[in-house]
Amino acid sequence: QDPESQSILEAHEWLTKLYNHLLRHSKEGKQALQYLLDRGFTEETIYKHQLGFSPTSQEFVVTFLEKKGFHPQTMVKAGLLNVNNQGEYFDRFRGRIIFPLRNHLGKTVAFAGRSLGEQEPKYLNSPETDLFQKGKLLFNFYLARSAIRKTKTLLLFEGYADVFSAEQAGVENGVATMGTSVSEVQAQLIKRYADQVIICYDGDEAGTNAAVKAAKILKRTGCQTNVARLPEGMDPDDYIKKFGGDRFKKEIIEASDPYTSFIINYLRRNYNLQLEGDRIAYIEKVLQEVAQLDRAIEREHYLNELATNFQISVETLKDEVENLRKRVT
Ligand code: UTP
Ligand code: MN
Ligand code: MN
Ligand code: MN
Ligand code: MN
Repeated sequence: QDPESQSILEAHEWLTKLYNHLLRHSKEGKQALQYLLDRGFTEETIYKHQLGFSPTSQEFVVTFLEKKGFHPQTMVKAGLLNVNNQGEYFDRFRGRIIFPLRNHLGKTVAFAGRSLGEQEPKYLNSPETDLFQKGKLLFNFYLARSAIRKTKTLLLFEGYADVFSAEQAGVENGVATMGTSVSEVQAQLIKRYADQVIICYDGDEAGTNAAVKAAKILKRTGCQTNVARLPEGMDPDDYIKKFGGDRFKKEIIEASDPYTSFIINYLRRNYNLQLEGDRIAYIEKVLQEVAQLDRAIEREHYLNELATNFQISVETLKDEVENLRKRVT
């Protein structure tokens, strides 16, 4: 490792401990600690994930890092400090709850800072560095790895709070893509450890669209891919807080849809099935999805469903699918 990266890692290690200490023991951190406890996050979660609090002072971290002998310009690069035109340094994270972002080796390589109120942005992130690229890191992968390996299953969330709530409900194989959909790099990492992925994004438009993208990428890696459906306007954290972990496991995780069901359902939104033209266009779309399934028994399952729903003979649908399959292969 080059000296600069080494120095960035060390600074993150120091600050993780310091921010965590301030959250748990300082007067200034009290409100942040109360916020987390009010949201139902436990002391254990705070300890395990080393959650922290960054003071509101402009120069708290500046002073701390200076005393430790870190080069301020490197710390700017690391995203821990900002610098103005006069060459004065300031803390980047101020008055925020700190979520250390660890890489797959367990090293903190970046921070996300959540505002306590409505202050924007809701989450302020470290900039991208050689050590941290948002699209490559899976939040909580380091801690979830053994549970993923054991269950061969990975749960994919959007956010930090979803990971924590699931974990508190005993679901320890959850990771988060931090608000974006899955990248190719992340999908390959997932594939190395899990046979099955359950995508569990938020129950809103953004979450659904991200789930479609993620599902397609993950399906292509060969993972058995399911998509969970959350009630409109709720995310997994909200759901667990409202209905409890048992219902989350039964009604969300276990009830998640296999990839093809999910896509078939999702496609509906683009068509008005009362109209004949739309109905035929929709059926054709579905047949294209079904044609991509490797197993005949699976294809038959969805064709039977389609035949019943639209009063078309299964034979006709089968012929169509076989034609489509000849064309692609
Ligand atoms: P959400 O908006 O769903 O936030 O974004 P959340 O996880 O439910 O957060 P709470 O419950 O309000 O605290 C999902 C994820 O997207 C990333 C974060 O990783 C967040 O957890 N995000 C969101 C950002 O990086 N920046 C933002 O401003 C918002
Ligand atoms: Mn969201
Ligand atoms: Mn959310
Ligand atoms: Mn939210
Ligand atoms: Mn949330």
